[in-house]
Amino acid sequence: MERTLGILKPDCLKRKLMGKVIAKLEEKGFEIIEGRIKSLTKEEAEEFYAVHKERPFYGELVEFMTSGPVFLMHLERDNAVAYLREVIGNTDPALADEGTVRKLYAESKQNNVIHASDSLENAKIETSFFF
Ligand code: CMP
Repeated sequence: MERTLGILKPDCLKRKLMGKVIAKLEEKGFEIIEGRIKSLTKEEAEEFYAVHKERPFYGELVEFMTSGPVFLMHLERDNAVAYLREVIGNTDPALADEGTVRKLYAESKQNNVIHASDSLENAKIETSFFF
């Protein structure tokens, strides 16, 4: 069993898509072992996304991630890190595979419904940031 961090972003909660996305994750075999709704502070969002600090979208990303509550999920499954990335699909919904969460629900590269850790190392770092 492996563990990873998933975050349902403010667009997901505002658009009342939480239930649909969680149903998809459960259908794909993920267990939510911890979860909570939280409004990120600017400082938390800046630190969480510090790796993107030099990117042109950083400011907007921090603004977006603090625009409303998020749902933090500590998830468990075989091969959880890689498989969650597969289930959520490409960052850009236009490039995401059919049936993925982002293909189904994301509106743009920024408003893309869900975050998932991209490596086992980052999963550990990101999970301990919130849980
Ligand atoms: P996430 O998987 O949470 O990791 C970084 C986030 O930055 C990404 O999802 C998007 O929400 C956002 N992002 C990535 N690329 C772009 C982009 N080109 N324009 C705007 N936002 C982006």
